[in-house]
Amino acid sequence: MSGRPDTEARRRHDELSRTIRDARYRYYVLSEPPMTDAAFDAALRELEELERAHPALVSAGSPTRQVGAPVDVAFAPVTHPTPMLSLDNAFDRAEVEAWAERVRRGLGSDDPVRYTCERKIDGVAVDLVYRDGVLERAATRGDGTTGEDVTAQALTIADVPYRLAVADPPALLEVRGEVHLPLAAFDRMNAERIEAGEAAFMNPRNAASGALRQKDPAATAARPLALWVHGLGAVEGVTFAGHSEALRWLADAGLPVPPETTTVDGVAAVWAEIERATAERHELAYETDGVVVKVDDRAQQERLGWTSRAPRWAIAYKMPPVEQQTRLLGIEVNVGRTGKVAPFAVLEPVLVAGTTITHATLHNELQVHAKDVRVGDTVVVRRAGDVIPEVVGPVLSARPRGTRRWRMPATCPFCGQPLVRPEGEAHHLCENVDCPNRLLESVTHLASRGALDIEGLGEQTVELLVERGLVGDLADLFRLEGRREELLALDGFQQRRVDNLLAGIDAARTRPLDRFLVAFNIRHLGPTYARALARAFGELGPLAAADTDALEAVDGIGPVIAASVRSWFDNPRNVQLVADLAALGVAPRAEAGPAGAGDGAGTDPTLLEGLTVVVTGTLEGFTRDEARAALEARGAKVAGSVSGRTDYLVAGAAPGSKVGRAEQLGVPVLDESGLLALLASGPDGGAA
Ligand code: IVH
Repeated sequence: MSGRPDTEARRRHDELSRTIRDARYRYYVLSEPPMTDAAFDAALRELEELERAHPALVSAGSPTRQVGAPVDVAFAPVTHPTPMLSLDNAFDRAEVEAWAERVRRGLGSDDPVRYTCERKIDGVAVDLVYRDGVLERAATRGDGTTGEDVTAQALTIADVPYRLAVADPPALLEVRGEVHLPLAAFDRMNAERIEAGEAAFMNPRNAASGALRQKDPAATAARPLALWVHGLGAVEGVTFAGHSEALRWLADAGLPVPPETTTVDGVAAVWAEIERATAERHELAYETDGVVVKVDDRAQQERLGWTSRAPRWAIAYKMPPVEQQTRLLGIEVNVGRTGKVAPFAVLEPVLVAGTTITHATLHNELQVHAKDVRVGDTVVVRRAGDVIPEVVGPVLSARPRGTRRWRMPATCPFCGQPLVRPEGEAHHLCENVDCPNRLLESVTHLASRGALDIEGLGEQTVELLVERGLVGDLADLFRLEGRREELLALDGFQQRRVDNLLAGIDAARTRPLDRFLVAFNIRHLGPTYARALARAFGELGPLAAADTDALEAVDGIGPVIAASVRSWFDNPRNVQLVADLAALGVAPRAEAGPAGAGDGAGTDPTLLEGLTVVVTGTLEGFTRDEARAALEARGAKVAGSVSGRTDYLVAGAAPGSKVGRAEQLGVPVLDESGLLALLASGPDGGAA
């Protein structure tokens, strides 16, 4: 490539400059980023490369020479005591090492350098000026030189001290940090917004930015914002030899410093720290998108100095993005085993945090409308940790002309029956019990691990058996033994596969009664109460004959479950099924075993009185509702989010951000056996 820009290079330079300026304005001023961070970084990189190849394209106004965005006129402009610059980025180990090499050369010494590694907090940068220990002003970054005065708003944040907790405060202390919204608060806020039919926030940072830049500080106060500080600007009256020393001082002065910060020697240790931080990123209560590595020694920092936009003594390693953009190719619906209709997004395949995403649930029509995603849109897809992928929202600036609001189809795509949405419920239902997709889902369910756990009966086999009319209900499974020849005639079904399948089904004959109850797919009846019923009635016959009074006499069974069980056994199809099973010699019995939660004879309704418990993640022996019911039956209060008032967090599989929050607050975290102990013996059991 020549140094002289051709027309194409100029055109591309113009285009990228416009895109980046616009993105910065929308990000910093409007709190509505038009693109993901990764797309922004890529655009900026391309621009930098263009300018390196064609230096004639560089001007003072180029976005590569600027930080942030112009300030909004609505907030009073303030000039920062020292400019708030940006950080250079590194995207892999080689780039981190190349930076460390530049540091080594800049210092002119081969001694190992000491580095402080901090989480890069995905929040809103703020500048806090303390004069004589009292907060004088809080400002956003703005264009780096001039920010917006948000003192009144910042003072509503519990983490922002009005006065420093030091005996002899320095004359001037300019502190830098990130205002952010903890993940739990973000999830709660978005759930409430969707419920109210409002647009959800794209991510915690946008929500935090929007909250901080509320003109009415009371509106800021209504959002549970938090602060992490990570550095200093101008300082008079106190000196620090190292950055880590400064952070310790700030923490002692009452400013929140992230506990994950570490100080290490040499770049190999830095990389180990980066790997650890990346592996743990989703365990924190707040969102991080990288690691900021800083030369610790302040004299060395001074020697290394700054470029026009960033310090030479620091680098931001950027973790692989959890958000990506892709195209929404279609919205389709699935019908579950209970008839629930759930729309899902069909996406142009996109790699997000190491996994290729092609589909993402959209839950229900309400959510599709709240997010206003339309077929043809470019959408942001997010996958944080173990959480299932989700469509965050559309990139409105990229919306093609002629898109339409999505509507739930009037009829079921699998059986053609009209879909209905019961009054007050968010979900549509296909009420046809013979709907082929419901059938498919329910046979898959009854073969699953929590139900009859039938080996050799995976999703594909179920599909084939249902499609060929070999299986329509549970009893048909036990009839397959007599249809061996038909099975052998199926594509891909050799002798061995048929033998395995039939052996798997035969083994299921002797599964305990509670597993059959789960396989029956009775509304509201999860595994714990299925166990309670099985133990109380022993066999299928007496249970099928029990009236609602007899059912409610079982500990833990309330009127809702009782009515649901009764109505299931009253349904003529199920009467037939129960008779068919008996005729086929399938006679499940209750299993003798340790007392579960639902059948604790003589549950003490005061056992957990005064305790507040939060339940998160997936438990094996309980649904979330059952765990809640069991806790409440013993007098505990069950809350939705972890706070200082929480006594226990019960965490199942894939618990999300609540565990990090609990650990931060010192709230004990119980696993499922801890929950059982708590239910059986009260707080002493839980503590053990
Ligand atoms: S130090 C001279 N440390 O990331 C700038 N920044 O992309 C020194 N950020 O402007 C910044 N976490 O707003 C630093 N631990 C951390 C950070 C952090 C987040 C933000 C900060 C900065 C931006 C650069």
